[in-house]
Amino acid sequence: MAKTSSFTLSTAAGVWLATTLMTATPSWQSPAPQAPGKTAEDPAATLFVRLCSDCHESTRVTALRRTRPDWEDVINKMIEKGATGSEKELEAVFDYLVRSYGKVFINTAKADEIAAVLSLSPKDAEAIVAFRTANGKFADFDAVRKVPNIDVKKLDEHKDAVAF
Ligand code: HEC
Repeated sequence: MAKTSSFTLSTAAGVWLATTLMTATPSWQSPAPQAPGKTAEDPAATLFVRLCSDCHESTRVTALRRTRPDWEDVINKMIEKGATGSEKELEAVFDYLVRSYGKVFINTAKADEIAAVLSLSPKDAEAIVAFRTANGKFADFDAVRKVPNIDVKKLDEHKDAVAF
């Protein structure tokens, strides 16, 4: 399966973009307006809007949750369509989409995907996989919550991303 390193983008374009953005909006001159009630905006979220709303609304992108491989396909498809950004920027957007709009099939996914989508530690993700291997498929979300010693709070925050 293709890895994130398959993002093939000319570095020159990325450098150009970064330079342009920095020159265009120096933060000390024109602070970005904050949406009410939204503080400490994720920088990757800003990058996402910047890179992904030229050709369509970014809300169209986030209308659906996707698995990590599906997000990878989307990014590669958008590069083909002409989306720009350095490899590093596109990876940051990819990571952001995976952790904010991800979906993971908890009964089949490997530990690294579970960790990435649910923002769990590798140890917690391994524990989920080990529990599944020992006890069989999870019937529902509550069953996942019962895996001993995992960060249940983190898990709860990502409830919508867990698919069966
Ligand atoms: C250069 C223009 C352009 C940019 C920039 C762009 N897209 Fe797209 N995107 C398109 C086009 C064109 C389509 C419609 C393609 C289609 O329907 O086959 C599309 C469709 C999509 C879809 C729907 C795909 C589907 O299969 O339903 C998603 C999701 C998406 N884009 C995500 C992104 C993300 C994430 C980024 C930022 C990395 C991005 N786009 C940046 C042109 C662009």
